[in-house]
Amino acid sequence: MSLTVHLTINGGLRRVELDDPRTTLLDLLRERLGLTGAKKGCDRGQCGACTVLVDGRRINACLALAASLDGAEVTTIEGLAEGGRLHPVQAAFIAHDGFQCGFCTPGQIMSAVGLIAEGHAGDDPERVRELMSGNLCRCAAYRGITEAVLEAQGVLAGQAQETAA
Ligand code: FES
Ligand code: FES
Repeated sequence: MSLTVHLTINGGLRRVELDDPRTTLLDLLRERLGLTGAKKGCDRGQCGACTVLVDGRRINACLALAASLDGAEVTTIEGLAEGGRLHPVQAAFIAHDGFQCGFCTPGQIMSAVGLIAEGHAGDDPERVRELMSGNLCRCAAYRGITEAVLEAQGVLAGQAQETAA
């Protein structure tokens, strides 16, 4: 028995038939929709490599059943850059060497975007590290990641002020 779900993915409405109701959002993105930015690290909610935003909140896509997300808005790493311009979080990861092999990076960046949107990261590096602790990095690029999150947070706050002015 197949099941139909409608998802808005990176701004585009997608109608998806699910043959298996146990299909995770991660498998749907990677194997059906060709969005391979979210990575499958552990497939059990322990590494954060699969982090995406669902209705603006960061989640582990390997733990979310696609069938439970009908009507949701999903943002993946592929949807962050606009008009060929990197998102400030992406730019900050490059500026601060927030990666080495890059495997964890899409998840780190999506988690950082979600964290900044949550609005309670503050400017304490330790707190940022704690709030990003669901995203593991085998290359231990944590220092650059934390610096990138803090810088991007400032850039986004400045952009929000300009927009409001
Ligand atoms: Fe989802 Fe590791 S692959 S948390
Ligand atoms: Fe290699 Fe994080 S950059 S796992």
